[in-house]
Amino acid sequence: MKIHLVSGGCGFVGRNMVKRLYKSTNDKIFVVDDLSIGTHPSEWFDDFSSEFNNDLEIIGNEKRIYFWKGDFRDFLFYFRQNPRYIQDKYGLEFEKFSDVFHFAAIVGGRAKIEGDPMVVALDLSIDAEFFYWICQHKPNRVLYPSSSAAYPVDLQSVTHAIALKESDLDFSSNLGTPDMTYGWSKLTGEFLAQIAAKHYGVSVVCIRPFSGYGEDQDLTYPVPAIAARAANNENPFEVWGSGKQGRDFVHIDDIIDFIFILLDNVKDGSAYNIGSGKLTSFLDLIELFSSFAGYNPTIKPLLDKPVGVHSRYSDMSYVKERFNWYPRITIEEGMRRVYNAAVERIKKGELKK
Ligand SMILES: NC(=O)c1ccc[n+]([C@@H]2O[C@H](COP(=O)([O-])OP(=O)(O)OC[C@H]3O[C@@H](n4cnc5c(N)ncnc54)[C@H](O)[C@@H]3O)[C@@H](O)[C@H]2O)c1
Repeated sequence: MKIHLVSGGCGFVGRNMVKRLYKSTNDKIFVVDDLSIGTHPSEWFDDFSSEFNNDLEIIGNEKRIYFWKGDFRDFLFYFRQNPRYIQDKYGLEFEKFSDVFHFAAIVGGRAKIEGDPMVVALDLSIDAEFFYWICQHKPNRVLYPSSSAAYPVDLQSVTHAIALKESDLDFSSNLGTPDMTYGWSKLTGEFLAQIAAKHYGVSVVCIRPFSGYGEDQDLTYPVPAIAARAANNENPFEVWGSGKQGRDFVHIDDIIDFIFILLDNVKDGSAYNIGSGKLTSFLDLIELFSSFAGYNPTIKPLLDKPVGVHSRYSDMSYVKERFNWYPRITIEEGMRRVYNAAVERIKKGELKK
């Protein structure tokens, strides 16, 4: 029996991964999340039903999802005390986890990254415990989500913005300064991934997603928030900063697809971009969503809001060359899906009109 572990499995990327694993395999999936941000599986898992084994919730008619609610660091601490903690406490028989996806992190978007950098720095403690544990447990394969925030910020400024290449981050030469404590923790995580691979023989790969988005993303993120406001015909339309700052948006389904290709092909802890290679400004996004809504709003810049770096986008040529991979979902198609989901949520009364 294969059993995979998804930390942060109730957050945006994690729950999309859990749903994909459930659909595309017959394996069991062990989900750990403290629900500080994520939502309980009853809110997003279609085949929801549950029963308890001790404090472990077993979810779905096929009983293939195990949900452990709590801080991932506590989970790892119990493991450290007793490497057979899961087997002994819950009677689950397995030797070790197969694939481990580590999505538990304090993320929170620009407002948190700039507004409460010290809470985001706690990611360092989550990741340190995590990498220590995988070097003992030695799962078959490990996915570590780094971020485009690990790239040096001086390559993303108004006067000097380039398409960011994997080689712009090189541990054997000058690294530059990443984006706030969030970027530092990701950069450190990548370093630990390389150590885990090189010194402990763990099979691990890192990803650097740019701006992931999707239909079920939390409204604290710009894409679903702008979609919902356009669906509500907001006018004037508020934008953080001038709105000219740009990001590289990539749909969650594409991110998940590429993760599996990487797991099959990379084990040395190296990191790969996941983006579209295109820079899209927030003004472009507003224009696109308001065109879906059929109106042409006046823009109202909110200059006191945090905006982060000016331009952050990927150079996808290395990924294309090495794996022949590129995102299949265009910005127009992906954003249309998000817009339609926002309209449905408004109809159901989940978002206010
Ligand atoms: N979404 C993106 O576009 C993107 C881009 C780059 C990197 N990433 C990385 O991917 C990972 C997942 O991001 P996301 O967008 O799904 O974020 P998210 O906030 O939606 O999910 C994180 C999940 O971790 C949980 N969590 C936080 N601290 C925990 C703890 N101590 N113990 C247990 N659970 C905890 C939260 O409740 C949440 O469900 C993060 O590492 C993030 O940095 C995401």
